Amino acid sequence: MSPPPAEPGHVPVLAEDTLRLLDPRPGETWVDCTTGGGGHARRIAERLGDTGRLIALDQDPTMLARAGGRLAGLPVELVHANFDQLAEVLRGRGVEKVDGVLADIGFSSDQMSDPARGLSFKTDGPLDMRLDPTSGSTAADLVNTLSEAALADVLFEYGEERKSRRVAKRVVERRRTKKFETTADLADVVRSCVPRSGNIDPATRTFQALRIAVNDELGSLDRLLAMLPAVLKPGGRAGVISFHSLEDRRVKHTFRTEGVWRVLTKKPVEASDAEVAANPRARSAKLRAAVRV
Ligand SMILES: C[S@@+](CC[C@H](N)C(=O)[O-])C[C@H]1O[C@@H](n2cnc3c(N)ncnc32)[C@H](O)[C@@H]1O
Repeated sequence: MSPPPAEPGHVPVLAEDTLRLLDPRPGETWVDCTTGGGGHARRIAERLGDTGRLIALDQDPTMLARAGGRLAGLPVELVHANFDQLAEVLRGRGVEKVDGVLADIGFSSDQMSDPARGLSFKTDGPLDMRLDPTSGSTAADLVNTLSEAALADVLFEYGEERKSRRVAKRVVERRRTKKFETTADLADVVRSCVPRSGNIDPATRTFQALRIAVNDELGSLDRLLAMLPAVLKPGGRAGVISFHSLEDRRVKHTFRTEGVWRVLTKKPVEASDAEVAANPRARSAKLRAAVRV
């Protein structure tokens, strides 16, 4: 089956700030760790020109196929890999060090709005949540097998769900009679025991927590941040766009390491009101950038 076409209206988050701070130059070698729809990748590759090289990773093969159309004709090599394998990917391509690395982490709206991925409680679909559907455990595996205490910890730590114990108890009771298979099924159980506050669906925090756990999002980010100094040339630039405080905290602490990084963003760069109005996903985006000294 051919991949869905790249949507022409796709606009990457904080694109101008990213290019201004990271300043990709003609002839350089760069990595986009999270190619997604290819929005940042296209802009970086255009700056690198014919003599440059962009190695573009994503753990989701569907997103890579989709980005391929948008990146046709540019010096881009698409690689299906988790960014925590970056050092290995570069070694495999004979690249010792690179001039820049960008990671715009999390998920794309295309992934979120596809019911088959099971990321959203708004539409019913299989309770999957894997960003790389070719490997690893699904959210259904977790909710059907984790102990009540372990499940409560996941919901509390990754979702900041204050009713984590109550949700875990209800999930474990329910799965004794029927295993969880769909997003609607789980969302209904959560809604039955967590009160609604304002406009936020009570299932929001549980779904965020499970997505982070299924994809080991914080572990992958920690491994990427730890390997950045080794893969960047002196003077090389790194930028990370994150979407919640658990991620941003890690990036902030990493870039504070003296003797390794010179920070380019004392405070994280956030989207203007105009950008948020045009692209609601930009609302919680925080960009931090640093130079490898
Ligand atoms: C926010 S989107 C990136 C959007 C992209 N910057 C653009 O302009 O279109 C995040 C992408 O990163 C991918 N991703 C998330 N975590 C990843 C990881 N650990 N390794 C590789 N790709 C990852 C997701 O599959 C998704 O396609």
